[in-house]
Amino acid sequence: MDALKKLQWFVFGAVLMSCLQLWLRRKQTGTDLGCSNPPPRIYDRHSSWLNVPKIWREEMERRVKHMETVCRETTHSVDGSSARTGFPPMLYVDDRHRLIMCSMPKVGCTNGKRLLYALTGNVDMKSFHNFGSGKKVVSYKRFLPRLSQYSPFGAKLRLETYLKVIVVRHPLERLVSAYRGKLEGKGHPITGEAIYIAKRFETNPTPGMLTGKEGVSFQAFIDYLNSLDPNKDYNNHWESYIRLCDPCQIHYDVIARLESQGTDLNMMLKLIGMDDKLTYPEGDLPASSSAVWKKYFTKISQSDIRKIWQHYELDARLFNFTLDWY
Ligand SMILES: *[C@@H]1O[C@H](CO)[C@@H](O)[C@H](O)[C@H]1NC(C)=O
Repeated sequence: MDALKKLQWFVFGAVLMSCLQLWLRRKQTGTDLGCSNPPPRIYDRHSSWLNVPKIWREEMERRVKHMETVCRETTHSVDGSSARTGFPPMLYVDDRHRLIMCSMPKVGCTNGKRLLYALTGNVDMKSFHNFGSGKKVVSYKRFLPRLSQYSPFGAKLRLETYLKVIVVRHPLERLVSAYRGKLEGKGHPITGEAIYIAKRFETNPTPGMLTGKEGVSFQAFIDYLNSLDPNKDYNNHWESYIRLCDPCQIHYDVIARLESQGTDLNMMLKLIGMDDKLTYPEGDLPASSSAVWKKYFTKISQSDIRKIWQHYELDARLFNFTLDWY
């Protein structure tokens, strides 16, 4: 009788314990998905850099050192960061791979963003190459967090530990690309600005120009830019890197140049341990190659070019672009 009672108590105890355990486990995993499942920490500031070829690493060091030197020389004249409160608008965050990328319009931006969408896991990796049409990219915008959306502490923590990447191209090449995409020919999307430019800067505007059905001339576009106050915000498509990506505040680790973006971005994928899952297309250069964009400036006077250059001079110096071809 005594032994039976002991057994009963034992069984009762065992059942109680396992119930308690089940309840506890459920409490841990069921309710708080975010905290019990920390993101994999793939990028590491020290060890990740051992995975990339020395020659590329040294090239990045050269570019970064050059940028930092220019930043130090010009701290007083750079007002991009001091004029703005908070972080620049174009910094996108990928928490899964510890990546911060400044992806701005007209720097192979659709491709860069496509890559980020794939990395954040919001787009099927296999279809990321086909994930191309502008509209779709825009509709996915909300899945791509910006650094400015984080708390000051969260943003600072990420800036200190994540890989920071900026993609750059010659400022004047970027202008041509923006002009071609937004103001040249028919069916451009920024009608309001085009009409304004046609009215104020076109010597013989056509009816199509004045109603926004037709784009404006490159000369009118340049005159328009030269009339703007460089200390005020431009349209993002021709805003300076200083304002969009604030290089002197962010201290980028990787400066990818458009001429070498295939190599540079594939090395970036290596740094975050994703090179076996994704490949950035090597030959994927945007439409305006060197010969094409330079042709746009052949009809622009030297003094107009010098003037427009002043708006982008610091951008150019930071990333070692010159006017020497002109
Ligand atoms: C800057 O560009 C010049 C040629 O245009 C090149 O010789 C030099 O190495 C570059 N500097 C850096 C830091 O990349």
